[in-house]
Amino acid sequence: MRTMVIPRLHTVGEPHAELLAALHQRSFEERWTTGTIRDLLRGPGAFAVVATVLTDQPAGFVMARAVAGEAEILSLGVLPKHRRCGIGRWLMSTAITVAGDRGARAMFLEVAEGNILAQALYFSMGFTIVGRRANYYPDRGAGRETALVMKRDISI
Ligand SMILES: CC(C)(COP(=O)(O)OP(=O)(O)OC[C@H]1O[C@@H](n2cnc3c(N)ncnc32)[C@H](O)[C@@H]1OP(=O)(O)O)[C@@H](O)C(=O)NCCC(=O)NCCS
Repeated sequence: MRTMVIPRLHTVGEPHAELLAALHQRSFEERWTTGTIRDLLRGPGAFAVVATVLTDQPAGFVMARAVAGEAEILSLGVLPKHRRCGIGRWLMSTAITVAGDRGARAMFLEVAEGNILAQALYFSMGFTIVGRRANYYPDRGAGRETALVMKRDISI
């Protein structure tokens, strides 16, 4: 049986770029360097949230930005051993709340066409598919994968 957890959620910034890079690497096959993450966090409207569980162990993260009334999820990941406990949903809810507080009225994200689990999370949170970007992701041996563009409104 799955055990749902209520994580602690921490807004973090550039000083936490190394932690975010480590969490990203353990959540995805693809590696984003600390420098890449620092550059993203320096961009306009960018923010990041880390979820911790138990004795403050980092379990997942979300990076997003909210600019000129629109928000975008830059990356979302939960460490394999903490998945299916509700942490991804908490992180997404928090990103939507922060973006709404910063004036965003809509949130967008991109997800690989084959990433059915993440899509299930996004559909369940009210996102719908509004576009497709063919050959969007880097080729890791199986061809370049299509990205789906998803959107949901953020109500006031
Ligand atoms: C996608 C991801 C962030 C989900 O995080 P999570 O903490 O496991 O998600 P949650 O426990 O909050 O689950 C939320 C919903 O996602 C869907 N979901 C997540 N994992 C699932 C699984 N293994 N099987 C079926 N549905 C799943 C379900 O709809 C679930 O809702 P439910 O528990 O009420 O059925 C996590 O699997 C992950 O980090 N994956 C690798 C990185 C990635 O793909 N990031 C997204 C890139 S766009």
